[in-house]
Amino acid sequence: MKVFVKKSIEQLTASAEGEGTLKRTLGAGSLIALGIGAIIGAGLFVRTAAAAGEHAGAAVTLSFIVAAIGCAFAGLCYAEFASIIPIAGSAYTYAYATMGELVAWVIGWALILEYALGAATVSISWSEYANKLLGGKIPYEWCHSPMESILVNGQSVHGIANLPALAILAILSLLLIKGTQESALVNGIIVFIKVAIVLVFIAIGWQFINPANHTPYIIPATQPDIKLPDGSTYSYAPFFNHGWGGILSGAGVVFFAFIGFDAVSTAAQEAKNPSRDMPIGILGSLVVCTILYILFSWVLTGVAPFTDFMKSGKEASVAYAISTYMHGYGWLSTMVTIAILAGFSSVILVMLMGQSRVFYTMSNDGLLPKIFSDLHPKFRTPYKSNMILFVFVGAFAAFVPGSVAGDLTSIGTLFAFILVCIGVIILRYTNPTLKRPFKTPLVPIVPILGALICGGMIYGLPKETLLSAFGWMVLGLLIYFGYSRKNSKLGNIGDVLPTASDFEKQ
Ligand code: ALA
Repeated sequence: MKVFVKKSIEQLTASAEGEGTLKRTLGAGSLIALGIGAIIGAGLFVRTAAAAGEHAGAAVTLSFIVAAIGCAFAGLCYAEFASIIPIAGSAYTYAYATMGELVAWVIGWALILEYALGAATVSISWSEYANKLLGGKIPYEWCHSPMESILVNGQSVHGIANLPALAILAILSLLLIKGTQESALVNGIIVFIKVAIVLVFIAIGWQFINPANHTPYIIPATQPDIKLPDGSTYSYAPFFNHGWGGILSGAGVVFFAFIGFDAVSTAAQEAKNPSRDMPIGILGSLVVCTILYILFSWVLTGVAPFTDFMKSGKEASVAYAISTYMHGYGWLSTMVTIAILAGFSSVILVMLMGQSRVFYTMSNDGLLPKIFSDLHPKFRTPYKSNMILFVFVGAFAAFVPGSVAGDLTSIGTLFAFILVCIGVIILRYTNPTLKRPFKTPLVPIVPILGALICGGMIYGLPKETLLSAFGWMVLGLLIYFGYSRKNSKLGNIGDVLPTASDFEKQ
């Protein structure tokens, strides 16, 4: 059947080379930086406190370890594929080679949730922090969506458009159009700043750790309820709000902090030596961030009691902990806010880049219109795609609240992770002798565990989010059967094409 037509590894590799393709400019160091650029952001700076306050307490460190294990399994599978297939499309491309066109389309469509909505979500957080740094000078109407409102002197004020979010998206889109190398350079500088500040916070904060805040380490079932600022009460009695249940649920919350390591694989076509450097970039960035996350969360929950994050310090938790408990380090609080802004910028940059690369590949395959793969004559970047993406992501950022998009981002990502894990097992059976510069260890155990853990995290997400994701998928299928299947380059010569295993083994 046409919808199950697969791309052979050889076809994939051949289409990545030559004039008119993306430029190979990135080495292992740039790829690790790209990963860290996409990974450290709102997840660490905003969600750590939320996970600690609501579910895991000081043991949020263990939540980070659980989420990291799930990501490590998926990361190992990504690394195997990225070392074999040096193409820009990431999970979409891997699915095309192993499970056929329809699954590839579904995953490409899910990746829009991860990258485009991820960029929109983080740009909205960026806007909040930029306004905080400016002392709240931007009028409410111009930094909120029309779906949000507040009461001022008894009058309801509605948002009109989130202009700072639009502005940061515009700047970063222009940078991406200018060139991947330039973008990688800016990303490298930002990564340096944000990692440096995270390290400074860990080093200075360590001296302010109060051991009482780490005792008991895991929230006990007897933890008293607390009163929230809006007058309501929050209970730690439910299964997912204390003990190991809380740690697992905290893992689902902080999973967002790991999203992005897979974005490294979208740049495979721009890597100088992809078979060696892609696994280094993917796994290296994951390892660096996991270590930083564990140290950071240990210090944050050691400096401030986790219950504080439910009362006053939830959003700007790090700045709160510094100003309340680390006397004499007010300057660090401002630095942290700047680092957070920088951190958010690089997350947005890599997400936008990842999305345009997935579109680039889908368009080359005929599943999306050609405009998405037109390259700039001089910069050789998919500039038209970057511009269309700016309009799409910008509309989301300007007119929709951030909370709507966050969990959808996680679903899209987890779904992609599951399919990549399954894909590794399929390719081991369908093409066992293929040269694999990097091999996922212990197949099929590692991919199966990866798929199960990611499936578990999807299960734990709010049911409304699952419904919205389902609606998005239905829309995607309508477009596939209405447009993409008819225009698919491979599908139209499809059934006569050999599969990967028919080719001479490498
Ligand atoms: N991992 C990215 C962040 O935390 C998406 O912002």
